[in-house]
Amino acid sequence: MTISLERLRRCTIAVDLGAARTRVYLKRTGLIVDEPTVAAVNIRTGGLIGVGALAERMTGRTPPHIRVVRPVAGGRVVDIAMAQRMLRFLVGNKLRRAWRRKALPSAAVCVPHDADPLAQRAAVETLTGLGARRVELVDTLLAAAVGCGLPVERPEATMIVVCGAATTQVAVLSLGSIVAAERVPVGGETIDHAVVQHVRNEHALMLPSQAVHPLHLALAGAGPSVDDTEVHGRDVATGLARSVRIDIEGIRAVVRTPLTGVLDAVGAVLRRCPPDLVADLAERGIMLAGGSAVLPGFDSLLREATGMPLHIADRPDTCAVEGLGAMLEGKLRPVVLDPLAS
Ligand SMILES: Nc1ncnc2c1ncn2[C@@H]1O[C@H](COP(=O)(O)OP(=O)(O)OP(=O)(O)O)[C@@H](O)[C@H]1O
Ligand SMILES: [Mg+2]
Repeated sequence: MTISLERLRRCTIAVDLGAARTRVYLKRTGLIVDEPTVAAVNIRTGGLIGVGALAERMTGRTPPHIRVVRPVAGGRVVDIAMAQRMLRFLVGNKLRRAWRRKALPSAAVCVPHDADPLAQRAAVETLTGLGARRVELVDTLLAAAVGCGLPVERPEATMIVVCGAATTQVAVLSLGSIVAAERVPVGGETIDHAVVQHVRNEHALMLPSQAVHPLHLALAGAGPSVDDTEVHGRDVATGLARSVRIDIEGIRAVVRTPLTGVLDAVGAVLRRCPPDLVADLAERGIMLAGGSAVLPGFDSLLREATGMPLHIADRPDTCAVEGLGAMLEGKLRPVVLDPLAS
C-alpha cells in the first residue's frame, strides 16, 4: 500500500473503523467522533434505534425484535450498509457542515497492512456511500506510528505494536515504509473471552459482557478491592442470578495466555529484520499502542520477553486516527529519496 502525502493533504476527514470503536478526525477541527462501532436495529421495521454508546448499552439487554449489530469485525467492514448508516448517524451535523463547505470531499481511511482487496474495497465503498469523492487507504500501522510521534521518515528502525479489540498488528518501520509486519487475531475481545471462559469453568457462572471491565480495573489496582472482586452473573446450571468473588491473581494468569500470540508475532517480525534495524530497536525500544495497550501487565510481559525498552503511547487508543489526521494536516515530512546528482 503506497500512500501519497500530496493526495492525503487534499482529504477532509480521516476515519478509523475499528472492531470496538469508530473514530473520525475532521481536518482543522480534530477528533469529532470516538464511539463504539455498534448499531441497534429494529428487525421488524429495519429502522435504526441507536448507534455508538447508546447501542452498546443495549447489548445483551434487547427484546427479540431489536438486534445489536457490529458492522466491523476482525479489521474489516463486514456489513457495508450498516457501517454507512452508523457513520452517517454518528457524524451527523458535524460532517454535513464540512461537506457543505467543500462538496464531495476526499476521505482517508486506515486498514490493516495485510488487508485483502475485498477488505480494501469494503472500506472504500463505506466512505463513497457517504458521499466521499475519493478515498485514500492508509496502513493502520503507519498511521498509528505517526500518531505516536515516532520518526517514521528517518532511516532508522521504529517498532510498533498496535493491540486493538480484534487484532494485534506488529511492525518495524524505516524510511516511511513497513519493513516487516505481522497480524495476529488477538486483542481485547480475545482477552475478555478468555476471562469469561475462566469464570464459567471455575465458578459455573455466565458473566454479562459488561462484567469484565471491573476485573480490568481490579487488575490495574484501581478497583474497589485489589485482591478479589465481586461479579454478578447467571448460574450455568440453575439459570438464576448469582454473585461470586473472583481471585484477581487467577485472572492475571488467564489474561497472559492469549498475549503469548503477540509475543510470537513480535519474534517473527524481529527475525525478518536486518540486524542493523534490530540494533536500532535495542536502543529505541518498542512503542505499544491500541486500546488494549493499557491492559495491566501487558507492557511488563513484552519487556520481559524481548528485553527491549517499552513505551506506551500517550493516547494509545486514538493514535491511528490522530496520525491519519496529522497526515491530512500536512504535519508529516515526506521521505525525499532523490537520486544523487552526478
Ligand atoms: N482500561 C482498559 N483495560 C483493558 N482493556 C481496555 C481498556 N480500555 C480499552 N480496552 C480494550 O481495548 C479494546 C479497544 O481498543 P481499540 O479502540 O484500539 O480497538 P479498535 O481499534 O476498535 O479495534 P481493532 O483495531 O482491533 O479493529 C477493547 O477490546 C477494550 O477491551
Ligand atoms: Mg484499531
